[in-house]
Amino acid sequence: MKNNKIKQILAASVLVSALSLTQGCTQKSVEKRTTKVKANLNGISLPENYKDWRVISASHRIDNKTMRIILGNDIAIKASRAGQTNPWPNGAILGKLVYKQKQEDNWPTAIAPNPDKFIHAEFMFKDDKRFANNGTGWGWARWLGDKQVPYGDKNDINQSCISCHTPVKGKDWVYTTPIKLP
Ligand code: HEC
Repeated sequence: MKNNKIKQILAASVLVSALSLTQGCTQKSVEKRTTKVKANLNGISLPENYKDWRVISASHRIDNKTMRIILGNDIAIKASRAGQTNPWPNGAILGKLVYKQKQEDNWPTAIAPNPDKFIHAEFMFKDDKRFANNGTGWGWARWLGDKQVPYGDKNDINQSCISCHTPVKGKDWVYTTPIKLP
């Protein structure tokens, strides 16, 4: 337990330093793609360096007991900090990492992501020309579990994402309200 706590603290400080180190990141490095994880059937690849992205917000789904961390690439972070999110600019990528929830070992009323129970990573890629066809201007993609298996078949991947995001069509299809930093 103690070890776990220490690991969590270490992980948190690594995350903080990763977050501050990437502030100067250029768009070129953001666009680099990984070759290890398969592209999805729409031809969208996992953004290679999403692990270095900064945080836009977090959410907790009490119905299915999951915690979500919402991240953005540099373009998305810049827009979110500037309040320019309707529409989001082309080149913005939003990421969402979903984990099963757990109670903190040493403080059970604190609910946190369970580091060992990663469910999936999802991304929305803003490009109003490339993705004009699906009617949203966003490319939609999800990779499942630790193996990061691309999700969905050609016919329904867009549909399942887009239908559930339709209530926020007027917010450029995005649910999350970016956090404000003092
Ligand atoms: C069952 C409804 C539902 C489906 C299906 C769904 N989403 Fe979402 N999505 C949400 C909700 C609600 C949020 C905001 C709350 C949260 O973070 O979980 C969200 C948030 C997101 C976010 C963070 C940005 C935002 O809009 O807040 C991304 C990225 C995302 N979804 C991508 C996808 C992709 C890609 C798919 C399809 C593979 C998908 N979603 C399918 C309901 C859904």
